[in-house]
Amino acid sequence: MPRTLFVTTALPYANGSFHIGHIMEYIQADIWVRSMRMAGHTVHFVGADDAHGAPIMLKAEAEGISPQELVARYAAERPRYLDGFHIRFDHWHSTDSPENVALSQDIYRALSAAGLIETRAIEQFYDPVKGMFLPDRYIKGTCPKCKAQDQYGDSCEVCGAVYAPTDLIDPYSTLTRARPVLRTSEHYFFKLSDPRCVAFLQEWTAGANAAGGKRLQPEVLAKTREWLGAEGGQASLGDWDISRDAPYFGIEIPDAPGKYFYVWLDAPVGYLASLKAYCDKQGLDFDKLLDPQGQTEQVHFIGKDIIYFHALFWPAMLKFAGRKTPDALYVHGFITVSGEKMSKSRGTGISPLRYLELGMDAEWLRYYIAAKLNSRVEDVDFNPDDFVARVNSDLVGKYVNIASRAAGFITKRFDGKLLPPDAGRPVATAQWTTLALEAEPRIRDFYEEREFGRAVREIMELADRMNEAIDREKPWELAKDPAQTERLHQVCSDCIHAFRQLTLFLAPILPKTAERAADMLGLATPLRWSQLREDPPLVIKPYQHLIQRVDPKQVDALFEPPESAAGKAGAAKASAAASTGQTKKAQNAVASKEGTVDEFISIDDFAKLDLRIAKVVQAEAVEGSDKLLKLTLDLGTQQRTVFSGIRSAYAPQDLVGRLVLMVANLAPRKMRFGVSEGMVLCASGEGPGIYLLSPDSGATPGMKVT
Ligand code: MSP
Ligand code: ZN
Repeated sequence: MPRTLFVTTALPYANGSFHIGHIMEYIQADIWVRSMRMAGHTVHFVGADDAHGAPIMLKAEAEGISPQELVARYAAERPRYLDGFHIRFDHWHSTDSPENVALSQDIYRALSAAGLIETRAIEQFYDPVKGMFLPDRYIKGTCPKCKAQDQYGDSCEVCGAVYAPTDLIDPYSTLTRARPVLRTSEHYFFKLSDPRCVAFLQEWTAGANAAGGKRLQPEVLAKTREWLGAEGGQASLGDWDISRDAPYFGIEIPDAPGKYFYVWLDAPVGYLASLKAYCDKQGLDFDKLLDPQGQTEQVHFIGKDIIYFHALFWPAMLKFAGRKTPDALYVHGFITVSGEKMSKSRGTGISPLRYLELGMDAEWLRYYIAAKLNSRVEDVDFNPDDFVARVNSDLVGKYVNIASRAAGFITKRFDGKLLPPDAGRPVATAQWTTLALEAEPRIRDFYEEREFGRAVREIMELADRMNEAIDREKPWELAKDPAQTERLHQVCSDCIHAFRQLTLFLAPILPKTAERAADMLGLATPLRWSQLREDPPLVIKPYQHLIQRVDPKQVDALFEPPESAAGKAGAAKASAAASTGQTKKAQNAVASKEGTVDEFISIDDFAKLDLRIAKVVQAEAVEGSDKLLKLTLDLGTQQRTVFSGIRSAYAPQDLVGRLVLMVANLAPRKMRFGVSEGMVLCASGEGPGIYLLSPDSGATPGMKVT
């Protein structure tokens, strides 16, 4: 029975470029969508930018542009990533859109009419200089428990304590450094604690969907049980604060002047807004598609950090607004790189754009990620050596190899013509198709269940069987003996048939390779599972190379910091490290564990350094870098520009007028943001913290340090 599916991925915040975590999510969803289409189902696959919220508003303000402009900038670069990784959404939209305003306000009105919206006065920190209420992340202060300074408003990074911003000692606004004051404001709440909501969520989270599957994975269900309170027990769900005060970049709450929806209210509505815009464009009936009584299955791919919003708030919002509720959440873990977690803001060592710019094949990454994915909420590690080994041995060594070993003979010796498959032929390769058809239902199920790793394993085992059979038949030897021409034709035809089946099996993961292979094989596109059982075309075009091997050097380049990769010489690399705050690493190479120096230099070595006193005359943050400050230094007789990796430790305005020590004869270095003409000296140890060095009073700019 053909099904109709409405599939989304989480909507990325529109204040940054895609990182590899986003790409992994899209690859997972894209593979699934393609596999469902191959099964003959109709899929509407949409995404959008999550445009609203305080961080976007503040970032735009800091850059002196409107939030819309900021959002547009990131929206403009999305296609490069999506096309680059062969991720094919039917439509990409924005939560800052008329469709989303209408739908969000509509849903809100319905919830209000259902008696599920309530207002309450709450007390909150307010920045009197900035004139706005402060989200927790913009409040810092001293931890009430361990007294560590500069801790965020919700928890302490040093001792792990969790608290309210009002518990902080000496709180300050990170926007203005002002001491926040408590102010009261009226907030709007969605009454999730209402018995109707609790009862619905108990049922919805545990239930099965129309397709007969579970709505939630077991570990996700377990989480929601915790949040909802065990069956029969006390629900621990609090009401949800859905309003924010102006100034806020968001959607106005109807009949509530100066109040906006909290970004997490209108963000998931963006799924519907994107589908609505898509339907309007395609002439599809949106309301019919999402009829609560209809057959469409609504599926959301998301990461493990946003389960709460999707498993509780979102279904409840939809349910009590009288709309269709989701059929399944497919939650994935996080991608780590060589076992290291990545930071949400900085991303990982792997930049998706850099991957593409280095000429690395998107299908490699798709394959590698697929090979590592399963249906559970487990993290996926990108391991560079493993990546090279998997791609080269599986894709090139096992899959492509089957075609490249046979296609030449077919073209040169048999005029591109194949013998039809025949399991009864007396050659070792003849039985293979039977094996493949026997595996087909398993492989299709693995795809549908998002057990991509198992699908890949099953497919590669089939490839192994075929390669073994080829090794037994040795077509390259048959080719030397004119008496074996018929046998050669049989074996090589079998190879191409096997290659065709493997191509179909891998098509959701390797869409571009499959397209090229389909062209060579004469297969009709879009590809369908049903083609596995159809009589195949019996003429092929000459073989063109399909997938290159990964060169480990490319992977190395992927991990080099972009600054040093841009430079040519090793010397350039070293100075890049120094001026971008990676001095710590260099220092650790010299200092031993006990903190003593274990390598000596001569006085002549030291004399090579031109160390000077310099005065900071100007300091500013560098757009596009969360590490760097751009410093203008006065050396007495001249000024220098230096990019220094001290942003985490110093506010630019605190540096102006201060004396620092600088290396004045470091070769100038071209960086992404400009030319750095030296380096300022800092101290740092094992823990966090960077400390600028400064001279005793009396020293003046330009003095030499000896
Ligand atoms: N804007 C919200 C989602 C709103 S959905 C209505 C958001 N955006 S995000 O940009 O931070 O994250 C988007 C998606 O990327 C989420 O599903 C998140 O889990 C996923 N990932 C973020 N980091 C990730 C990894 N390191 N690995 C895999 N996915 C990761 O949250
Ligand atoms: Zn603490």
